[in-house]
Amino acid sequence: MKAARVALRSAAPLAAATTGGGGGRVTREVEYFARYSPSPLSMKQFLDFGSTNACERTSFSFLRHELPVRLANILKEIDLLPSPLLSTPSVQLVKSWYVQSLMELVEFREKKPDDHKVLTDFIEAIVKVRNRHHDVVPKMAQGVLEYRDSSKMDPFTNQNIQYFLDRLYMNRISIRMLINQHTLIFDDCNSLGNPKHIGCIDPCCDVVDLVHDAFQSAQMLCDQYYFASPDLKLTQVNGKAAGQPVQIVYVPSHLFHMLFELFKNAMRATVEHQEKKPSLDPIEVTVVLGKEDLSIKISDRGGGVPMRKIERLFSYTYSTAPKPVMDSNNSTPLAGFGYGLPISRLYAKYFQGDLNLCSISGYGTDALIYLKALSTESVEKLPVFNKSACKHYQIAVEADDWCVPSKEPRNLSKQSAAA
Ligand SMILES: Nc1ncnc2c1ncn2[C@@H]1O[C@H](COP(=O)(O)OP(=O)(O)OP(=O)(O)O)[C@@H](O)[C@H]1O
Ligand SMILES: [Mg+2]
Repeated sequence: MKAARVALRSAAPLAAATTGGGGGRVTREVEYFARYSPSPLSMKQFLDFGSTNACERTSFSFLRHELPVRLANILKEIDLLPSPLLSTPSVQLVKSWYVQSLMELVEFREKKPDDHKVLTDFIEAIVKVRNRHHDVVPKMAQGVLEYRDSSKMDPFTNQNIQYFLDRLYMNRISIRMLINQHTLIFDDCNSLGNPKHIGCIDPCCDVVDLVHDAFQSAQMLCDQYYFASPDLKLTQVNGKAAGQPVQIVYVPSHLFHMLFELFKNAMRATVEHQEKKPSLDPIEVTVVLGKEDLSIKISDRGGGVPMRKIERLFSYTYSTAPKPVMDSNNSTPLAGFGYGLPISRLYAKYFQGDLNLCSISGYGTDALIYLKALSTESVEKLPVFNKSACKHYQIAVEADDWCVPSKEPRNLSKQSAAA
């Protein structure tokens, strides 16, 4: 009886996200798919799926199960959010998108992969899912702002939101990756793809070319905004094959995203910090291909950030940019949420890389991107819904087991005199 009550309690919020009836069915499907852990794919598997003997039926059979599994895993976590955040209209809307997408994909469970119509319908369905989830990031950001305006943000809630959003957005990156690969490779109507790419993966991704592209794009924005921009000074080292271009197997759009965000930040800091100087110091970029890592260091002389604030920069609730304004029709603003760094770090982590900032306050900042140099080591990093994940929402990870210095230190001389 108690177990049934617990089940009902956890089922209710999911049912509430559906419009009209069918809540019971939704709950059943979510529970069913959430029992599976997502299956991370390696870059090699992505390439094999899309190589010359690519099989659409195999990809279909994999995705019709894997996509609902990834959707259901994160749906279970949405319900663990603090209720004032969960009940915001924005979060409820995002949740309803996940439910709807899952239910539409479940329709393909019994369908025959040999039927050409089924395969084309599936492509249509996953494109619809991709479009529906287009605004998940700004919508969630809006939910967090709504919550921040209505409730007090304590460190524990902050930590929960950070943990959840990292996982939600990583899950979303992975779902988009799966959908993009399938549609780019198997959708006959898709003539946009680069013939040298396998879906959205470039087997010979030229890192220095991308650095130049991303720098130029950021520079254009910087010029528009500040009427000035720093130059680029680039050094490249191929530690594996001296003199050869630095190439890796990677998703160029992901790397472009990270570089563009880091360049925007470096340029903003440089221009604002060096306002009074006759010319701006360049942004120095070092690209190095080593045995294990492909590393990119972006160094600016933008005045840096105090050590105390570094970890906060990756928080979804922190930005020094002016707070974005919601316009009257309540549409979602585009930038200034402070999501540049945390989302870029997720892109880096998605294929087992990382992104760090190393700053010298009063001088400048080094932003470092690490990617796996070997495609065999580039494997998807995916969140899974399980007991350990649940625990994160219940207890503060950092135990209160370090002394907090008192604001007014005790007068020790008095103490020794009394002894
Ligand atoms: N290179 C840098 N030098 C100095 N401060 C930086 C640097 N990079 C980031 N920051 C600080 O970190 C904050 C967060 O950066 P982030 O890119 O995540 O968000 P944002 O730039 O504020 O907004 P957006 O979402 O538009 O990128 C910035 O507001 C800025 O204060
Ligand atoms: Mg930014």
